[in-house]
Amino acid sequence: MGRAKFYALPIRSLHRSTPEAISITFDLPQQLQPAFRFKAGQHLCVEAVVDGDVLQRYYSLTNSPALAEPFAITVKQMPNGRVSRHLNQALKVGDTLRVAPPSGNFTPLIQPDNRCSYYLFAAGSGITPLLSILKTVLSVEPESRVYLLYGNRDENHIILHQELNDWQRRHPDRLLLLHCLSQPRFRRSWPAHRRKTRKVRGRVGRIDDGTLNWFLDRYPPTTPHCCYLICGPTGMMDSCYAHLRRHGIAERDIQREYFSLEHAIEPAPDSSLGQSAIVDLELDGRDYKVRLDAGETILQALQRLNVDAPFSCQAGICGTCRAELLAGQVQMVQHPALNDQQVEDGEILMCQSRPLSDQIRIRVRKH
Ligand code: FES
Repeated sequence: MGRAKFYALPIRSLHRSTPEAISITFDLPQQLQPAFRFKAGQHLCVEAVVDGDVLQRYYSLTNSPALAEPFAITVKQMPNGRVSRHLNQALKVGDTLRVAPPSGNFTPLIQPDNRCSYYLFAAGSGITPLLSILKTVLSVEPESRVYLLYGNRDENHIILHQELNDWQRRHPDRLLLLHCLSQPRFRRSWPAHRRKTRKVRGRVGRIDDGTLNWFLDRYPPTTPHCCYLICGPTGMMDSCYAHLRRHGIAERDIQREYFSLEHAIEPAPDSSLGQSAIVDLELDGRDYKVRLDAGETILQALQRLNVDAPFSCQAGICGTCRAELLAGQVQMVQHPALNDQQVEDGEILMCQSRPLSDQIRIRVRKH
């Protein structure tokens, strides 16, 4: 356990998906395949040395565990993104990248007998985990359908456009792909262009309340179950989530992936927050009793005492430090890696949790 282990993976190919985004595929040596087993929707942690600093960032896998595809991520260059700029500009085929095995919690249960309507809402590089989910659903669940609403600036900035089109062509009856372009290059002629080329089908504008109303009303579910998945910039995700809830969709049917570190907080020890506590911890079949000082998170206390607990980002993003709260109360700074239902069910992130009671009991399971 402890901090995720990194492996140097050779880069098999580089492909520019848009002027600002690069798709990277890796060779995965046979002996690493068990460690890199993954579910659709998970991400990799990439470690890069940029100007002498060792930096880590999370990127969602775009390949599907149901298909024989190479491991792949697509990285959009962010305006001040040191790692994303490095990955977009400095890599060559044959270089190696240090990568930790997949993790993450944005993983709908995909299985052959499901009959589900999947509504996917993506903007920009938020398409990356959703592409893996889309491919897996279409490959594994013959009775399910996928409705994707994907927002970008214009036709040239649609990440993974070719691959999405290929999947649309292969599954015209089970995949509906609609684009939302805020500044389409063919604005005046877009409908004609659409009719003529059928390359871009959708609406002008952003994924806002009006578009969501239109989309949900126009494409009602045709299956007994529905699943709603959202990934994109924080503002789009929050407004999309609020809209779905107002539309009457249950919290348990919505999953969100905060792929950006905008939401990341690594809590500093602060003795004015929380309280001291005794934590009984069950970890890997062993029991520990740990004393927490006021203001420490559970993970900080475990690290201080050299308990080998799982963690990675320490910022509430990756979900690696998930645990079950069996007794007592904690307060989380925030929990982007958990949905509200999981929190209600007693899951916590140890890197974000400070005690609110003097006795706490938690169980950590291997994920
Ligand atoms: S270590 Fe990543 S969520 Fe806690």
